[in-house]
Order: sequence, then C-alpha cells, then structure tokens
Amino acid sequence: MTAHAPRAPARHPFLDGKLKRMLIDGKWLEAASGKTFQSINPATGEVLADVAEGDAEDIDRAVEAARRAFEGPWSKVKPFERQAILLKFADLVDQHADELTELDTLDMGAPLSRTRNMRRRAVGLLRYYAGMATALHGETIENSLPGDVFSYTLKEPVGVVGAIIPWNAPLTSSLWKIGPALATGCTVILKPAEEAPLTPLLLGQLALEAGVPPGVLNVVPGYGETAGAALAKHMGVDKVAFTGSHFTGQKIVQASSFNLKRVSLELGGKSPDIVFADADLESAVPGAAMAVFANSGQICSAGTRLFVERKIYDEFTARVAEFSKTLRVGNGIDPDVMIGPLVSQEQLDRVTGYMSIGRQEGANPLSGGERMTDGDMAKGYFVPPTVFANVRDDMRIAQEEIFGPVISAIPFTDIDEVLGRANNTMFGLGSGVWTRDVNKAHRLARGIRAGSVWVNCYQAMDPAVPFGGYKMSGYGRESGIQHLEEYLNVKAVWIKTG
Ligand code: NAI
Ligand code: MG
Repeated sequence: MTAHAPRAPARHPFLDGKLKRMLIDGKWLEAASGKTFQSINPATGEVLADVAEGDAEDIDRAVEAARRAFEGPWSKVKPFERQAILLKFADLVDQHADELTELDTLDMGAPLSRTRNMRRRAVGLLRYYAGMATALHGETIENSLPGDVFSYTLKEPVGVVGAIIPWNAPLTSSLWKIGPALATGCTVILKPAEEAPLTPLLLGQLALEAGVPPGVLNVVPGYGETAGAALAKHMGVDKVAFTGSHFTGQKIVQASSFNLKRVSLELGGKSPDIVFADADLESAVPGAAMAVFANSGQICSAGTRLFVERKIYDEFTARVAEFSKTLRVGNGIDPDVMIGPLVSQEQLDRVTGYMSIGRQEGANPLSGGERMTDGDMAKGYFVPPTVFANVRDDMRIAQEEIFGPVISAIPFTDIDEVLGRANNTMFGLGSGVWTRDVNKAHRLARGIRAGSVWVNCYQAMDPAVPFGGYKMSGYGRESGIQHLEEYLNVKAVWIKTG
C-alpha cells in the first residue's frame, strides 16, 4: 500500500502510534537494517501501524537467542513448570480475548462475528498443550538380545523451531505453533505473515507476561522472501512448521535440505463437499455455504468443490445462492457483518481474476461474481459470496485454490462416480458429506483421500483431534497427540547389566 494512506484513528490499545518492534531474546528491538513496513486495515485501506521489518540478520539474532535458551535455562525447566506457564498464558489470552480478536479483525479483515468465536479455540489450544506438557513419555521395550540388556526410549524436544504462518487466522495459527513447541520444551522463532503481523506481536507481549523466558519465543515480522526464506534455510533451525500455499511449501522443503531440518507442512486445498438428495437440506444449505464463505473463503480446508446430486442440483444451488445473499458484507468491526473484506489487493486481484476465468469458461454465477465498490466499500477489498453453477471438473475454478468466497457447484449422479471425481485433485485436506444414509457416509469416509472428513457438518475442529493433509495439502498433523510427536525426537537407550 501507499505511504499516503490515512492513519487509522486510535481505537485499539495496541495501536498507540508507536513503531511495533520485534521480540528477540525477551527484548523489543528495531530491525538491524532499521527498515519498517506498514500494516493495513483491508476494510478501509488505513495504515494501522509501522512494523519493524525483519530480514536475514534479525533471523540470525533470533536463532542465536532461541539456541541459547534451548541449550541453557529452558532445558532445565520441568514439564510441570512449562505447564504452569502455558496455563498462565492461556489465562492472559482469555483475559485479553477482545483485544486479540479485534486486532485480528482490524489487521486481516475477518469480521468480529467470526474472530470473537476464536476465543474458545485460542484458549482451548493453550490449555490442551499445557495438559500435554506433563503427559509426554517414552516407553520401555522388550528386546530379544541374549543376556540382560534393557532398552527404553526418551522423548526429547526437537530443538529450535521456525514457525511460518499465513494471514488468514493470525491468533489461532500462532498458538497452533507456539503451544506444542512450549509443551515439548522447544524454542520458537515465529515469522508472522507480512499482511497481518500485529496479533502475533501482541501474543509475544502476553507470553512474556506469562513468564515465558527470554529467547524461548521470538516474534520476527518480515517478508516471506527475506525473513521467511532465511528461517527455512537456517543451519541453526532444527524444524520448520509451515502453513501457507503449496508453492511456498515446495520452496521450504528445498531450503530445508541445507541441514535436512525436519519440516511439517499445512498447505492448501480444493476440498470436495458432497450433498446427497437424502440429506437434511435445512442444515445442508447453510452448511455448504459457510463451508466456503466463512472468513471470505480464506480457509485452507474450505469446501469449494460443491458436488450436488443431480436430482436436487437446481433447487439446492439456487437455495445456496439465496442464502448467500442474506449474508451481510462489510467492515467486520460492525458486529452484524458476516463477510469481511479479502486481506489485500493481491488477493482481491487473484479472486476477481478467478471470477472472470469462471465466466469465460462458461460457468454461470447465480450470486455475486464481481467486486463490491458501493460507498466506503471502494476503500477496501470486498467481494460478495459467489456461487458458480454449471461447473465442470476440468475448469480452472474446479481445480485451483481460489482462496475467496467462491463455490464451484458440480452435479453428480451416483456415489462411485462422485468418489472418483472428489479424489481427482492434487490436494487432500478437508471434505464434507451430507446424507441421512449411514452407509453412504461410511463409504465416503473410507474412500475420500483427505486428512479430514466432516459428515453433516463442516470445519469442526478441536485441539485433541488431528488435522492435516494428504497429497499436496502437506504432511504432518496439527492438534492431537500426533502434533506433539512432530516436535519430539525419539532416543533409544540400551543398558547392559550383569
Ligand atoms: P504464502 O504461502 O506465500 O505465505 C505464507 C507465509 O509464508 C507467509 O508468512 C509468507 O511471508 C511466507 N513465505 C512466503 N514466501 C516464502 C519463502 N520463500 N520462504 C519462506 N517463507 C515464505 O501465501 P500468500 O502469498 O500469502 O497467499 C497466496 C495463496 O496461497 C493464497 O491465495 C492461497 O491460495 C494460498 N494460501 C493458503 C493458505 C493455507 O492456509 N493453506 C494460507 C495462505 C495462503
Ligand atoms: Mg506471499
């Protein structure tokens, strides 16, 4: 954005007009280069804050601090104390929930009607990982060696973790990386997305207040090509936990080869959402709509390929389009707004680009389909919920991740056919099935090649239930016991006695 954009009026305690510095080794620092960038409110185009712009030099400083903490004082902190710190952190996140969720709304556009609901998830994640901190354990294993040889395993923290996150849910995606790292005894360098760095910085402040020692959590805002790339290839980083596009995921894997660091990837999708004629349509209509329109479609597991059984196709798609017109679009700071702006000009260009591609390919927009510029909306990046009918599997809007509020509705005839077509994608993150027939539900739950299958619901999430991808949606799991394993090394110990 331009340097001439208007300043936002001071309306949030974190937006005090001061430079937002980066957190390294428990101290708030300017970038070594002295550079800054601006964070913009995508609903109004206003500048919210100037932010210190980290690059390779700052990443070096942060990695050194994280390494010192990991090998020094943090390694002596017992699980019980890590748990206490995480619980304190959870309480502070709970107490500051309004501030945190409003900052997400201001910085990346998701409406308060959505971000406020993230309080439960944010606090729940931290309390879950706090619990896990004292539940980690190795095993004693019987071996078949002659004589008395005793063998057991130790679970050890993997070390210094680089966490690179996108802009679509800054509060919860930060905690989804910080939680397991702190629970297992790792240290972290969190690199927020350049589009939405503010909430991660406020979390850094609360973490210090909660007693997270210096160097254990470092927050370094900056651009992907500089700060992100430096973290991904850094010889002093033991693991990178990444969420974002599959293009960047591929670069991260390449960069990780320098020291063969461990990588977990939570990437994009083109998730199928399958509606049978026998479904409860009263819940399937809003369910299928919000599976895509929530967060303006900026969710990795959005159910964007809407397969509808042919005999209800016209009726169902018309009802989803009608429903979509009832969703209020606007500045998400208004509590009645359901659909906020897209995060940036870049995403606006991308999504409106796909809307014209869809029309050129012959798809028929039943609702939406163009940028909204009425009144104040011209200052932000607004697009309405859009339902494309007459979509064929081979159209680009049926194959590529749009990351906007765009449904591609495709008719199908029977279950075998729809299963094959649902799996005909390079991605495998989420999926939905709407039916009253338990047989169909089980068949598809088995057959769909994706990390999550939601039956008669969509986007259900819980800190205890693993989430992640098949195929090009990535590898590794977040949430659940599997998530902790991603941050642990297993050591085998052999002791010969007698
Ligand atoms: P991105 O993948 O470029 O950005 C995600 C994070 O990676 C940001 O923190 C960014 O600074 C960092 N990054 C970028 N390039 C990097 C590099 N070379 N090395 C290390 N880190 C790097 O995604 P972007 O550009 O924000 O969005 C583009 C598209 O990606 C979206 O339209 C959407 O299709 C997809 N996407 C998917 C997400 C998901 O949750 N699966 C989240 C964000 C974007
Ligand atoms: Mg980018």
